[in-house]
Amino acid sequence: MSNKKLSGDVYHPTEEVINNANAKCDELYNFAERDYEGFWAKEAEELHWFQKWNKVLDDSNKPFFKWFTDGKTNICYNCLDVHLDSARRNKLALIWEGEDGEFKSFSYFALHRDVNKFANVLKSLGVHKGDRVTIYMGRVPELAIAMLACARIGAVHSVVYGGFSVEALHERIDDSESKVLITCDGAYQRGKIIELKQISDEALQRAATVSSVVVIKRTGHDINMEPGRDMWYHDLMSLPIASNDENVEMMDAEDPLFLLYTSGTTGKPKAILHVHGGYMVGTYTTLKYVFDIHEEDRFWCAADPGWITGHSYIVYGPLLNGVTSFMYEGAPTYPYPSRWWQMIEKYGINILYTAPTAIRGLMRFGEAWPKRHDLSTLRLLGTVGEPINPEAWKWYYKVIGNEKCPIMDTWWQTETGMFMITPMPCTPLKPGSGTLPFPGLQMDILDEEGNPVKANEEGFLVIKNPWPAMLRTIWNDPDRYVEQYWSKYDGMYLTGDSAKRDEDGYYWIIGRVDDVIKVSGYRLGSAEIESALVSHPAVVEAAAIALPHEIKGNAIHAYVILRSGYKRTDTLVEELRKHVGHEMGPIAKPEHIEVVDSLPKTRSGKIMRRVLKAKALGVDPGNISTLAE
Ligand code: WTA
Repeated sequence: MSNKKLSGDVYHPTEEVINNANAKCDELYNFAERDYEGFWAKEAEELHWFQKWNKVLDDSNKPFFKWFTDGKTNICYNCLDVHLDSARRNKLALIWEGEDGEFKSFSYFALHRDVNKFANVLKSLGVHKGDRVTIYMGRVPELAIAMLACARIGAVHSVVYGGFSVEALHERIDDSESKVLITCDGAYQRGKIIELKQISDEALQRAATVSSVVVIKRTGHDINMEPGRDMWYHDLMSLPIASNDENVEMMDAEDPLFLLYTSGTTGKPKAILHVHGGYMVGTYTTLKYVFDIHEEDRFWCAADPGWITGHSYIVYGPLLNGVTSFMYEGAPTYPYPSRWWQMIEKYGINILYTAPTAIRGLMRFGEAWPKRHDLSTLRLLGTVGEPINPEAWKWYYKVIGNEKCPIMDTWWQTETGMFMITPMPCTPLKPGSGTLPFPGLQMDILDEEGNPVKANEEGFLVIKNPWPAMLRTIWNDPDRYVEQYWSKYDGMYLTGDSAKRDEDGYYWIIGRVDDVIKVSGYRLGSAEIESALVSHPAVVEAAAIALPHEIKGNAIHAYVILRSGYKRTDTLVEELRKHVGHEMGPIAKPEHIEVVDSLPKTRSGKIMRRVLKAKALGVDPGNISTLAE
């Protein structure tokens, strides 16, 4: 790979980066290609198993793949307990800074203590192996504690992003039939308080399964506490039920670890199911090699723990690697655009992993802000969530990385659990390309008929072999799992993205080909926004599409048909935007709402969003033979 002359704008890693990297690239690619299962087994052997697996990959019931069958382990045990017998016991596992400047840190010992105690609290609230627990919090350390405590006792966590609101939360609690909800009194965002508890109360009026609510005190403002249902975390943690009794549950490799709801092509969000064994091996390995984790590193994944990036690379991946993970509560530019750079200097962050939208947002304020800070500890950078435009890439590379830090542009999904297309520290980079599949992965780009497209032609991105951290199914809906991911092409996983591959084999992601919208890297569904709109009395029908936006990548544009008796006014349009914000969350608020008399539909009545999009962009809508009128 390294000897080949590559085309286009290429950035080569320095000798220092290559020599220091714990991944010897060629060896890894060769090994994984030669012996795929052997490659993953070797990685799995670096983790703790109460009982070793019999088979690395069981593909006897495709597409319901199993990994490390009959192996017994626990991801929480591998995140915490395994580090307690070495010097890592006193190493910081988690450093946290609040938006208001508050600071907390946990050694591996301290984090283990709290997780173990909280796991006992959950048990005393009647949470058993297999039960679901919804976690709806801001970005605070107790979020990680809650996730790990669930994993420890075999409960299945379902984290709902703290930026979501009433209906989104209600739907997710209901579908998962959670017994317990863990939340906060509030969360800080740009100096304001997001009323998490109030939103929880409203959502719980519509959800019946929750018997206990645990509330973490973050803001300390007055909130409603329902007697008999709501309990303060700090009270529970000071009771005898929060004992130090050991409580690790021995989990089967294929036992559920968590549900994470995500938007798909149609209808309601679906819960992606991940399991203890394969997910653990996948996140451990990918983080170790791609971000070249060294013992002394401080790793900062600036995503929200409420999304897959935070699950895999704030909580599980870093702790499995025994590295120090940094978490920041608030907005990147609060109170000044130097907030992030200040924290990199203060904590000596070595690796920063964020999203293109954040980079574009910070770039807007110019070089002077980062230049005022010492960012020399940075060794590697990363990006995820949407394609990064070369201009933002170059700014990140030059201004933040001082032209010495390679940028790991990692393509992956909630469903994949781990990085899938990504450079390694040794990979020559091209701005805007995620470069190559992770060692051993077979990916391709196909046309409608399933033939590989030629170099630089666009097609559907597919994955041709299973991988350990893959989703196992859609919770309660195995048919939808098969239909959505495995039915377009025989034996291949359909990603929902379109992509191109250049003459060097480098992958370039173009974007979603379905009705998933990525706003500032957050994944939303057209259908969810539409159903929030029609839940307002003034709206009979709605369509939501994504249009390009300079900072957010995409912005939501909605079209609505009003019920008779309602007239378009600016006040009504604003009310509709607010309504979507209240039901779904602020990120789902449409940028623009247009009142229309009709919507383009197929003869079977399906809204043709691509026609709306083409019209808005002033481009050819393509084939419209199925259009009704
Ligand atoms: C998009 C986020 C281009 C893609 C981890 C994918 C990307 C969707 C990249 C999954 C990247 C993610 N370059 N596009 N590096 N990473 N995407 O489930 O469209 O929130 O299908 O997972 O994000 O979003 P999700």
